[in-house]
Amino acid sequence: MGDILEKRGLKWEYAVCRMEDRENVLACLKSSGATHVICAAGVTGRPNVDWCEDNQVATIRSNVIGVLTLADCCELLNVHLLNFATGCIFHYDEDHPLNVERDPNTLVARDLDKTFMEVEKANFRGSFYSRTKGYCEDMLRSYRCVCTLRLRMPIDSDLSNPRNFIHKIANYNKIVNIPNSMTVLDELLPFAVELSLRKRLGIYNFCNPGAISHNQVMELYKMYIDPEKNLEQLQRRGTSESHCRTEKQQ
Ligand SMILES: NC(=O)c1ccc[n+]([C@@H]2O[C@H](COP(=O)([O-])OP(=O)(O)OC[C@H]3O[C@@H](n4cnc5c(N)ncnc54)[C@H](OP(=O)(O)O)[C@@H]3O)[C@@H](O)[C@H]2O)c1
Repeated sequence: MGDILEKRGLKWEYAVCRMEDRENVLACLKSSGATHVICAAGVTGRPNVDWCEDNQVATIRSNVIGVLTLADCCELLNVHLLNFATGCIFHYDEDHPLNVERDPNTLVARDLDKTFMEVEKANFRGSFYSRTKGYCEDMLRSYRCVCTLRLRMPIDSDLSNPRNFIHKIANYNKIVNIPNSMTVLDELLPFAVELSLRKRLGIYNFCNPGAISHNQVMELYKMYIDPEKNLEQLQRRGTSESHCRTEKQQ
């Protein structure tokens, strides 16, 4: 984000406060004179999302109290808040089936009602992380200064970045083979800057069109990156190590 802002000649700086520290957030906003805040802070859990199950208060402190405090301070000072949130608050159900028919050119679903639209509220409560995120997203709907971006599996062009979804699944012991939405950061982050500058509000499914299964990603990985990758072994190993598990997989 910093690189994009720099290239566009925009003045920016990192915040130096914790989001839940209201006094410091207010002081930071006032002293910087910020007109826009871009927030990519949150607890995701290390080494993985399971950390949040055992550290629920710390997860609430950042993902709920922190983000709501930040939004509240921005609202008071009339500052626009662009919040990098998550689409890991949904799971497939009867009304939103796994495979929907899509236009082959645009990948847009033929029946949009069968996909998760921006108006829908979280329906996945299978991980504590997702519960905090779903709750917070819903509360943020009440604020008039907030733009919420629902990101999904983040992909960037740096394959050595351990936070890159492609790196993660190429190196995980197990992968989940269900179609997921993806967020290709190199492609979409410039739009995030634009949404911030234009002070857009509300919720956006901040994903690339369509959905792709982890096995399909690994097949592309084998084709373009590592022809030696042993996919059979990876796929046989099983089901569970994902950022956002479904209840069934748990
Ligand atoms: N990674 C994914 O797969 C994924 C997918 C969809 C959406 N997202 C969302 O995107 C956002 C960023 O994810 P990420 O993968 O970049 O996370 P990350 O690598 O875990 O980084 C999160 C950052 O937030 C900071 N932070 C946490 N709590 C804070 C607080 N209370 N006040 C100030 N800073 C705080 C952390 O700093 P400290 O280490 O100092 O605490 C860290 O620098 C999160 O909201 C996440 O839910 C992530």
